[in-house]
Amino acid sequence: MKVEERLKLKRKAVERELENILSQENSLLFQAMRYAVFSGGKRFRPLLTLSSGECFGASPDLVLPFACALELIHNYSLVHDDLPSLDNDDLRRGKPSCHKAYGEDIALLAGDSLLTMAFEIAAQAPLRNDLQIKRGQIIKEISQFAGVKGMVGGQLMDITLSQDVLTEETYHELILKKTGSLIIASVKTGAILGEAGDSELEAVIKYGRNVGLAFQVRDDILDSGKDAQKGRLPRPNSVSLFGLKDSERRLKDFVEAAKNALDEASLESEELNYLAAKLLELEKRSENEQNS
Ligand code: FPP
Ligand code: MG
Repeated sequence: MKVEERLKLKRKAVERELENILSQENSLLFQAMRYAVFSGGKRFRPLLTLSSGECFGASPDLVLPFACALELIHNYSLVHDDLPSLDNDDLRRGKPSCHKAYGEDIALLAGDSLLTMAFEIAAQAPLRNDLQIKRGQIIKEISQFAGVKGMVGGQLMDITLSQDVLTEETYHELILKKTGSLIIASVKTGAILGEAGDSELEAVIKYGRNVGLAFQVRDDILDSGKDAQKGRLPRPNSVSLFGLKDSERRLKDFVEAAKNALDEASLESEELNYLAAKLLELEKRSENEQNS
């Protein structure tokens, strides 16, 4: 089977599991949570988790709940990011953002519920006895990468740092936290479940850092000009910092570095290489791939 087909099957498994997780109730809150989660996301993070787990021999059934937990956290962050007090975006993936469809109060709670549910899923996921010890480690990693030291901390930098005081170093720190954290958590979770050794974990983290950097630089390239369009001051952005040409070169370098991290540790994963290389595709963003 070709790599695209294998990833397609993985994506289907993620959709099915998310359906299971989010069909517990039909309350307004669950409707808003489902609206946020089933609006055309690429499932990039759970695919990373499943592919990383597979690379180290973890069974997909074991990894799937954790992969979905990471996708729930990702979707919470998008719901909250779009709120008027943060980015004030009316559209997400070409459709009304969650607060536009359900109101700010429900959207806020839907985000809260997606985040807390992620930890419930991770805490309850069936694991073999000999792997129980890994659960605490994974929950610790995910909470750190999602929290103050990770994604939330990066979001704070995004809000508070103005473009004119930004150095290359601070910009990298910002995007590593804001976007990279959850991506690193995704690959690391798969690797921990596959009982990767220390040097293998290091390699996977290096891959995740570079995929995270590439992911946000690509997002900046595709979104360049959006701040001006919306009449707001430019937010920290690769294109306004380094220009378009240089940003494209940086994107290539990060993708190369991600693949090298795997090669150097002799880790073979067609999927992980493919997912990194996918970030080089810069054709105009499709309707369902709009981010803020
Ligand atoms: C798009 O992902 C997401 C990003 C580029 C990450 C941006 C980071 C935030 C919005 C952090 C927000 C944090 C808080 C705490 C509010 P994607 O292209 O994979 O989206 P998809 O799921 O639609 O495919
Ligand atoms: Mg945004």
